[in-house]
Amino acid sequence: MSDLNKIALKILESGKGILAADESTGTMTKRLESVKIDSTSDNRIKFRETLFSSNGMKECIGGVILYDETIRQKSSDGKEIPKLLSELGSMPGIKVDTGAKEMANSSSEKITEGLDGLRERLKEYFNLGAKFTKWRGVYNISKDHPSKLSIHSNAHALARYAALVQECNMVPIVEPELLMDGNHSAEDCFKKTSEVIKKCFDELILHKVDLTGIILKPNMILAGSESSEQISNEETAKLTIKCLKESVPSDVPGIAFLSGGQTEIQATENLNLINKFNETNFIMSYSYGRALQQSALKHWAKDISDIAGTQKVFDHRAKMCTLAAQGKWSKELENV
Ligand code: G3H
Repeated sequence: MSDLNKIALKILESGKGILAADESTGTMTKRLESVKIDSTSDNRIKFRETLFSSNGMKECIGGVILYDETIRQKSSDGKEIPKLLSELGSMPGIKVDTGAKEMANSSSEKITEGLDGLRERLKEYFNLGAKFTKWRGVYNISKDHPSKLSIHSNAHALARYAALVQECNMVPIVEPELLMDGNHSAEDCFKKTSEVIKKCFDELILHKVDLTGIILKPNMILAGSESSEQISNEETAKLTIKCLKESVPSDVPGIAFLSGGQTEIQATENLNLINKFNETNFIMSYSYGRALQQSALKHWAKDISDIAGTQKVFDHRAKMCTLAAQGKWSKELENV
């Protein structure tokens, strides 16, 4: 077993998942302003430290994806954030892409940037304590999208990123996200997600990436949020498993889904069903941003000094997701 494989398995062991707390300053500002909190550097670390130091971290969160600002910050008692996480048994990770930008010759699509200077930035993050990284490719679904150009370019970038990350002894999270926005059918989401994931693996293999040392972070198969033909959670779970079974090489140890705008309960219920029906050898867990933090953020915004109350809300969500990652969640547990 390679060291990278061990890290990937450790992050996702026993139903543990990943807290995606890597919102860029722009995105975090939107999240904080939506609950009427000023997006100062101090408030950003206050909220994040509240989550990072909660009990749920130990039991449920195997890894936390940090943003560049956060990996350099300290807790209120002066501890470096990667150290705080490591002491709780959670691996520090870091988002290393520099964002999705308008694609040349296909302006309605995005290409993720950040390859220039990446090797040097990775060394710095490794020295700051990072054990794994994230890069997100983003695709919209419509009749003509994602285009061949977008599928090819983003897969190429993801593979070059993953190869550099492994060279620096960290585990790359490979995240191709097909957005929920739009009125496409679940069938379209299935077809296009399959095509995107297959292309990503073609490129990862071409770039000699060790597939046993990555974590795939895909979207679930859902109808577009504006579609009148929504499918049931059972259908989502079955189609998601079918898609991954057909598109992901069996060497990959773990899959950690993004929540992508699903509600907290929907993301939990779907993950639970995926694990109930899972007929693959992949660990199927979570790497949620909004679906882990939304309620906690709302609670915190009412009184930012109520650390214990906010942690209680976060711990509950993390516990529910970890039960779902083992197929042991039920609606009744939400009210216990
Ligand atoms: O890249 C996306 C985030 O890491 C996951 O965020 O669960 O809110 O979609 P989300």
